[in-house]
Amino acid sequence: MNSARAKVHVPLWRYPSVSAMATAAVPGLNSNVNLRRTNSGAISSSSSSNMSLNLTLGNFISTYKQNGLGSELPKRGNGGKSCLAAGVRGRFIREQNGLGLGLNNRDNEGESLLLAQARRGFLTELQSLKEEAESPSGPVEFESPLGVILYPDPRLRAKNKRITVFDEKLQALVAEMFDVMYKTDGVGLSAPQVGVNVQMMLYNPEGERGKGQEYVLVNPKIVKYSKQRDVFREGCLSFPKLEADVERPLNVRVEAQDVKGKKFAISLRGWQARIFQHEYDHLEGILFHDRMTPEAANSILPGLRQLEDAYEKASGLPAPERVKGN
Ligand code: CO
Repeated sequence: MNSARAKVHVPLWRYPSVSAMATAAVPGLNSNVNLRRTNSGAISSSSSSNMSLNLTLGNFISTYKQNGLGSELPKRGNGGKSCLAAGVRGRFIREQNGLGLGLNNRDNEGESLLLAQARRGFLTELQSLKEEAESPSGPVEFESPLGVILYPDPRLRAKNKRITVFDEKLQALVAEMFDVMYKTDGVGLSAPQVGVNVQMMLYNPEGERGKGQEYVLVNPKIVKYSKQRDVFREGCLSFPKLEADVERPLNVRVEAQDVKGKKFAISLRGWQARIFQHEYDHLEGILFHDRMTPEAANSILPGLRQLEDAYEKASGLPAPERVKGN
């Protein structure tokens, strides 16, 4: 599994610069951890005080490079393997822009280009704030019983609203989502996965009720990524039985609100950072195969196609997305 790492190709528009990707393998952290189950033997954390915004900026730059610097995100014409809808990419970029303003010059980027990008990022961020002001979200609504929805259900790609009302209904959603998560043998779950498109996710690194600690994060934002990255074999409750390697930053710092609306910040390492980032992606409409190398994605291609076919059969509707590949 390690040998694959040297040859990893990650599409630039999705990931930071090539130099940021040249990540050393982390001893003791390897690919046999499955997000659906706790594999405590494989859980470990590695200290990295080397947190930085550079990755974010690199991501921001490469995203814009791939998109021709346009704020309207032209369709990708490079035949690249992309599963992200344009809207999702837009949100992703806005997200990155919000974090990417700690400008740090890069050897292969002209400064004026950088500033132009930063300005665009700022404008896009303003646009996003404006949209939010125009359609404020009310109390969270859902109907029990909740169940996990499967890829390619379009709710997995829908925009997730910020939560602004911290009431009993939200607490009920949290309680029921934990029920669903434990019942389905998961360690983490995001609200869109039960068909509720709001920015809330929860996890328990032990994956068992009464063991470990339960974490609930409302409106979470990643404010720092470690340069250090690693590869884990991930699963996802919305893709039953499918597992493949995903590379991510090893540690992240997160700001969020709790179920009562109180703000907090937390630094997550290793296994917890892995779970968090997977669930956080759901809140951004990003699914784990979007982050896979072409090789890893190919390894689960038959399974993805089966899910797409099953969706069509069950719903009588065309699958809203289909993976490309051979
Ligand atoms: Co998932």
